[in-house]
Amino acid sequence: MDQKTFNNPGIPALAESKKFNEFHLSRFIGDLFCKLKMHNLFRPVLPVFHKLAHISKLSEWISRHTPANYNDFFTLQYNYESRIKLYEAIFSSQHLNLPINYLEFGVAGGNSFSWWHVNNTHPDSTFYGFDTFTGLPEDWGIFKKGHFSTNGNVPNLDDERCIFIKGLFQNTLHNFINKTSFKKRNVIHIDSDLYTSCLFVLATLASKIKPDDILIFDDFKMEHSEFSAMINFMDSFHFAYEVIGAANNYSHVAIRILQTKREE
Ligand SMILES: C[S@@+](CC[C@H](N)C(=O)[O-])C[C@H]1O[C@@H](n2cnc3c(N)ncnc32)[C@H](O)[C@@H]1O
Repeated sequence: MDQKTFNNPGIPALAESKKFNEFHLSRFIGDLFCKLKMHNLFRPVLPVFHKLAHISKLSEWISRHTPANYNDFFTLQYNYESRIKLYEAIFSSQHLNLPINYLEFGVAGGNSFSWWHVNNTHPDSTFYGFDTFTGLPEDWGIFKKGHFSTNGNVPNLDDERCIFIKGLFQNTLHNFINKTSFKKRNVIHIDSDLYTSCLFVLATLASKIKPDDILIFDDFKMEHSEFSAMINFMDSFHFAYEVIGAANNYSHVAIRILQTKREE
């Protein structure tokens, strides 16, 4: 510990100081709020504040990230098929026809998954698809728990490079990591909608993600979803990244990992 840090009086001294300061005020307001159970008063307006905070944060983030490989911002025409243009753009600009470790979280009937195994024809590539295959494990906005279920059926693909891992990510991913090599370039595609699922996947894969790996998010900008999980993950794990593609006004976003450690 250096001398400066050692001599720094820190929070206990601020808290015990006789002079009323910002720290006392913030603590007092917080304590009073909890004592009076004021969350009951604010509950009806909280969704509006949450939405405002979310859209402001997203807007600020978008203004700082202009993708190099593909971008249709600003478009008035929402077209779900634009995500395919995003895949095509990053596939060619990032040379993704080499051996890759493709991991898709949220496969359902296999629409996006199929694009990747059909287009990457390299015999040494592997394609892993994770899903409950019984639908969303939680409600997500208008989509209720169980939505997207395929009744437990995995996509029927005639390609032995494809492997499906059935179950909650939270129950399957640790075991998968312990027996899988992550030496190839990883393309990690998150299409599981939920904030909880996205954050769990990123945090659990953190030690396996390396510079130059690609992350794709399919429902990026929705509230309680992938944008919030991604920035919370990047901040907490000190990863640096660049945005390489965005389709449908940043609904689908691709990023490339630059660094997985920050200088001390
Ligand atoms: C929007 S769908 C995927 C759509 C698919 N990628 C496509 O292009 O058609 C989202 C999927 O995420 C899955 N999912 C979400 N959270 C999950 C979790 N924690 N564990 C396993 N599957 C999850 C759901 O079961 C659902 O099938």
